[in-house]
Order: sequence, then C-alpha cells, then structure tokens
Amino acid sequence: MDKIIIYGGNRLKGEVTVSGSKNSALPILFSTLLTDDSMTITNIPSLTDINTAISFLNFIGKKITKKGNTVTVHSSYRCKRYKHIAPYELVRKMRASILVMGPLLARLKKVDMSMPGGCAIGARPIDIHLDAFKKLGAEILVKNGYIKTFVRNDLRGTAINLNFPSVGATENILLAAVLAKGETIINNAAREPEIEDLANVLNKMGANISGAGTNKIIVNGMKKLSGFTCHEVIPDRIEAATYIIAAAITKGEIILKKVIPQHLDFVTNKLKKCGLFIKETEDTILAKWTKNLRPQNVKTGVYPMFPTDLQAQWMVLMCLLNGYTSYIEENIFENRFLHVAELQRFGANITINGKTVNIKGVEKFSGAPAMVSDLRAGAAIILAGLAASGKTTVSRIYHLDRGYDTFEKKLKKLGANIKRVHYDDT
Ligand code: EPZ
Repeated sequence: MDKIIIYGGNRLKGEVTVSGSKNSALPILFSTLLTDDSMTITNIPSLTDINTAISFLNFIGKKITKKGNTVTVHSSYRCKRYKHIAPYELVRKMRASILVMGPLLARLKKVDMSMPGGCAIGARPIDIHLDAFKKLGAEILVKNGYIKTFVRNDLRGTAINLNFPSVGATENILLAAVLAKGETIINNAAREPEIEDLANVLNKMGANISGAGTNKIIVNGMKKLSGFTCHEVIPDRIEAATYIIAAAITKGEIILKKVIPQHLDFVTNKLKKCGLFIKETEDTILAKWTKNLRPQNVKTGVYPMFPTDLQAQWMVLMCLLNGYTSYIEENIFENRFLHVAELQRFGANITINGKTVNIKGVEKFSGAPAMVSDLRAGAAIILAGLAASGKTTVSRIYHLDRGYDTFEKKLKKLGANIKRVHYDDT
C-alpha cells in the first residue's frame, strides 16, 4: 500500500492549476449512456473514481477511452446490448454508480442496481432517488440485495418535489427525465455548479432543460439524444479551496489557475473575513497568508452555503489559530467527523458535541502517523502534515486518489517536502 511522507513547515508558494471537477465529471460520464453517438469530454481529472466509472460504463456496453485528461466516447452498437445490471463489486466502490439508474431507465426501461453500501460518512440512502423514479412511472422491487427498477410503458414527466435538495437525486432525475414523455419539474432541486455543468452537457445532446443552478428545473423530454463534439468539465471548486487553505496554514502565497472564482464565493468570503488576502480574476485566485488571521465559525449547508466537502479542511485552519475558539456545524452528513481523532494526534484541541465541533486554536501541530478514512478527511490530514513540525506518515491514501488529481505532485511543486512511498504488504 502506498503512503505519503511529509516533513512539514515549508511555506507553499507558486502556481497550481486546478483539475476538472470530479463531482461534475462523474454524472457527465454517466450521461453518455443516453446516446449511442460519439463525443469528446476534456478536463477530466485523473482519479480512481473516474477510472471506476469508465470501467463500469464499458462493462455496461459503452466504448470509452481516456488519454490524459480527455475522454473519448466512441459511437457504440445499439443500446439494446447494454447490460442493465449494476453489480455489487462495482457499486460498493463508488456511491456515484447509482447515477447509472436514470439513463438506463430512460434507455432500457429497466435497471437492477445493487444496494449501495454505506460509506465512512454515513448511511447515505437513496430513497429520494427511488421516490422520484416512482413518480416518473417506474416500479421498484427489492430482491436479493438488488433494487430492480422497471417501467412497463414509458417514463412520464411530472412535478417532483424533493424533500431535500439531494445532488445525486437531482442528477439522476435529469438523466431520466430528458427522455421521458412530457414535462418534468424538479422543485427544491440542488443548485450546485455541477448540476449546471451536467445540464449544459445534456442540452448539447439535444435535451431541453432550463433552470439548472436554481431550485426549480424544468425538463421537456425528447425522443432521442445525440452526441456532441466537445465539452470541457468545470474546475473542481473543492480542490481549489483546499489549496487556498494550504496557503493559509503554511503562511504561503499561492496562485490558483483555471478556476471559476464565483463557484467558491461563500468560502472565499469567509476566508477574507478570517483576514486572508484573496484577489480574484476571471479564472485565477491569489491567496496570501497574513499574520492577523482570526477564526470564522461555519455551518455546512447545501450550495451556495458552506460546502460539507470542505468541512474537514476548514477545521485544520481553525485548529491552528492560536488562542482563538471557534465551532463548525455539520448539517449534511451524520458522521463526517472521522478526521477529528486524526487531527488530535497532531495536537489539535477539538471537542465533538453531536453535529458540532468546538475548537481551541493551538500554537502548532507536531507531525504524527495518521490514517485516512475518507476522501476529504484525507485532504485535512495532508494539510495538517504540511503545517506540522516534523515528520508525518499518512496511510490508506487510496481514499485521496479517488478525489485529488496528483495531489502530492502539485504540493511538491509548491515547495512542500512531500513524497509518496510504496510499501509492499508482505
Ligand atoms: C454529492 O453526494 C457529492 N458526490 C458529495 O461529495 C457531496 O458531499 C454531496 O453531494 C453533498 O454536496 C458526488 O457528487 C459524486 P446528496 P450525494 O444526495 O449526491 C442524504 C466528495 O467528497 N440523502 O446531496 O450522495 C444523504 O444521506 C463527495 O466528493 C438521503 O437521505 O449527496 C446525505 O446526508 C462526498 N436520501 C445528504 O442527503 C437520498 O436519496 C446529502 O446527500 C439521497 C441523499
């Protein structure tokens, strides 16, 4: 198993190019099931989750290749040969596999989906997805660990009122409704930029979607969708914010390139209130440490509020504001504080009270051996190692490889003393 070794304390300085968004690339890849035509998708990050999605789609019957950060979807034989089964060994690797349901329901009118296993950050049920498919005319049978979903006639557009603006459910509904008969209205839809990116791709395929990015999305179903020449995935706003926090905690100065600053407005406004120097242009962000940093309490929420995917990284910054107290409230997932115990190994002073953590800033972290439990907790541990004095050894970094494109290489280029080492399990 690979590990990452860090000798902390270096100030990070220089430029970093942000990769394409994992959480945009994944639904876009699943949208390719909606047509047999070819298309090219660029700015796809090099991540294990992307490889998992591509092998899953090729297992179903697509012909997808990836070269560098470009994915080519070759025109495939008729979708009738698509498999309609999403097996457990694939689904357990990546929850986003559930996004295969919408397109297969739309094209094959059936999909047998293995129950998605829980994951480190909570149960993460899919009831909102299934309720929406039923409203669109699907029937559901749970048998032998599979959710068998099928449509006797056609998916029919309707009004769907989400009880929670679930990102995945909004995406799955879009992926089904684009080929349903009639109009679908999604009320209380998720408003993430990744939803807008998916809607833009679907409209390039000939879909008729309006309102993406707002809480009300209207879809007029089409008979057929076609390919398109090219689409560039939007930049990863969570990766971008992670590097900004890296600058803050190492007293550094980093210019982020290929970002869309407004996608992380809430976070950068919070960081400006902390006292960090931030200057944005159309596609760059300059983040520069200042010596008067003060804490800002955050409550995670749905977009455009503070993103849950940045909660762990933010905690590292709050822990290092010596002498100040702050709190973080996690409102999206019920078990997303697994990184607290790891940060305490560096010397963090954190107390968990239900869905809130209370933090007392300390003068510094000391390096420690640490273990990654989930993707974003892993990013927080790397940040802690960068800020700590001495050596940090990070294990189970396969979680990191799911969501951070060449993380240690980009950090090394910014001046971090960091390397990946391979340990034989023998
Ligand atoms: C997406 O997950 C992201 N993943 C997550 O990023 C992100 O944390 C999350 O949205 C919230 O922003 C991808 O886009 C691939 P949700 P998703 O459906 O779609 C509950 C990362 O680190 N819920 O908005 O699964 C659910 O349990 C990952 O990149 C139901 O109860 O998020 C959770 O508590 C982690 N029933 C909350 O809603 C459902 O049917 C948010 O889930 C669906 C969700």
